[in-house]
Amino acid sequence: MKLLHIEASPRKEASASSRVADAFVTAYRRRHPDHVIERLALFEEPLPAFGAEGAQQKTEQILDLVRGGGGIEATGEWAGVMREVERLASADKVLLSSPMWNFSIPYPLKHYIDLICQPGLTFRVDAQGRYVGLVTGKPLQLILASGGSYPAGFPLETHGPATDFQRPYLEHVARFIGFEDIRAIRIERTSALLPDALEELLARRCAEAAEAAASF
Ligand SMILES: Cc1cc2nc3c(=O)[nH]c(=O)nc-3n(C[C@H](O)[C@H](O)[C@H](O)COP(=O)(O)O)c2cc1C
Repeated sequence: MKLLHIEASPRKEASASSRVADAFVTAYRRRHPDHVIERLALFEEPLPAFGAEGAQQKTEQILDLVRGGGGIEATGEWAGVMREVERLASADKVLLSSPMWNFSIPYPLKHYIDLICQPGLTFRVDAQGRYVGLVTGKPLQLILASGGSYPAGFPLETHGPATDFQRPYLEHVARFIGFEDIRAIRIERTSALLPDALEELLARRCAEAAEAAASF
């Protein structure tokens, strides 16, 4: 069994999402000492490029699938795409920890999403034109930090500066590629709390994460 931890904060020990994710991983490891835990730190590990060539190959992949083929060769930027998709596919469970940056996610996490959302690899289109996710049977635990607090729900124009494109976006992409069991722990107001109150909040969220890991 393999747990893949995708870490999207660059702030190491200072990061709220990484600290709570570490509490999750520590509790998970204690419960499942024989499981493999792979950490993909998005600000540390350079992701494969996905630019003009990758975009062109994505179009070729779609054409090949429409013509009944099995997908294009793993050459050039597409080879990097396939490597990242294989890393995700090889995991039995996924933990994703991320800060909110400008109401959404840090750019390396978007880069990662642009790599792994691929036709014929992580989703397909059925005969009725409906999208079908191919990353199935894995639970996903989100651990999300934000400086402010945000009402739960789909972003509405009326939410103004309290509009959250982080959790709804990540859950949307996850559902699109096939995840059904999606759990979330939110750490809010990290920028608004004084140090003692923040420490108290983080201790509570770490305890929640350890409990969540027990049933993951
Ligand atoms: C570049 C940047 C942009 C940010 N944008 C927002 C934001 O739009 N909304 C918010 O509530 N907090 C924002 N914050 C605050 C972070 O979400 C907050 O510090 C959070 O704890 C970061 O997660 P981390 O501690 O795991 O790194 C931003 C922080 C940075 C560095």
